[in-house]
Parts: sequence; C-alpha cells; structure tokens
Amino acid sequence: MAPRTVRVRSAADLPACVRVLADVHRADGYPLNWPAHPSAWLSLAGLRNAWVAEDGGRLDGHAVLADVDDDGGLLAGRLVALSRLFVTPDARGSVVGTALVRTAVAVAGTQGLRVVLDVVEGTPPSGSTSGSAGD
Ligand SMILES: CC(C)(COP(=O)(O)OP(=O)(O)OC[C@H]1O[C@@H](n2cnc3c(N)ncnc32)[C@H](O)[C@@H]1OP(=O)(O)O)[C@@H](O)C(=O)NCCC(=O)NCCS
Repeated sequence: MAPRTVRVRSAADLPACVRVLADVHRADGYPLNWPAHPSAWLSLAGLRNAWVAEDGGRLDGHAVLADVDDDGGLLAGRLVALSRLFVTPDARGSVVGTALVRTAVAVAGTQGLRVVLDVVEGTPPSGSTSGSAGD
C-alpha cells in the first residue's frame, strides 16, 4: 500500500477533492454554503499552489495557497493565504491538517512569503493546526 503523502494537486484529483469536501460540508458545515461550482471553488482566483493528502492512494485532505488582497501597505507582496483547508472526518486528529499546513508554510517560505490563514469563524481546530505547524 502507498504511504501517507502530501503532493501537488492535479486536475484529475478534483472529483475526489469535491467528494471529500462534500463529506466535510455534511459533518462540519464547511464551507458554510455549498458552492454552485465546487471544483471552481477549490481553484479560487489568485491560486498559487494546491496540495492533496493521500493515505494508501485514498485522498483525505486538501489545502491551497492563494494571493492575498493587500492594501499596498508594509506587508504588500509578502503574504499569501492558506485556504480551502480540510481533512475528511474519518482522518481527523492524525496530523493530516498539520502536514498540509507545514507543506504550505515551507513552500511559501522558499518564496520569501509568510502565510496567513483564511479563517472561518467557529472552526477552532484550524487555528490549532496552523498554530502548531509553525510560523
Ligand atoms: C481543521 C482541520 C483541517 C484539522 O485537520 P486534522 O488533520 O484533524 O488536524 P491535525 O490532526 O493535524 O490536528 C492539529 C491540531 O488540531 C486539533 N484538532 C483537530 N481536530 C480537532 C477538533 N475536531 N476539535 C478540536 N481540536 C482538533 C488537534 O488536536 C491538534 O492540536 P495540537 O496540535 O494542539 O495537538 C479539520 O478539522 C477540518 O477539515 N475541519 C473542517 C474544515 C475546516 O474547518 N477548515 C478550516 C477552515 S478555516
């Protein structure tokens, strides 16, 4: 069986990503409103990188980095947003989310960028995940 891995998302992964997202939506109400075009929602404007987590070939997590709308201030061009972060309910608490966040933070770091979390109110686990993943 293939080991757990985080790898770059491909277009062929999108149907499985949408299936996992539907499970997360049912379990957690994330996203709050089910998007009319879930594949497009996963490929938001300003997308830089997208990753999936896999366990034994089964996709169980997802995250993206996307451009931040900045105000031209001091941090202009130095921030990138971690978004569309979710892990299938069956795989929770197995540091899948942490692995995705660590990957995103590491890749952003190689580009001199700091990661901010695109937070949804009422979802405390993501704060814990990002807090423990560093930076
Ligand atoms: C947030 C989410 C991605 C975390 O994924 P995960 O793989 O379970 O996270 P990890 O196993 O890496 O756990 C990381 C930390 O979060 C904590 N955590 C995970 N799930 C939790 C839960 N349901 N309640 C409380 N804490 C939780 C873990 O205890 C761990 O904390 P620690 O580092 O202090 O020990 C996942 O819960 C999820 O998909 N939630 C629904 C979608 C969502 O809210 N996305 C974020 C939008 S801002």
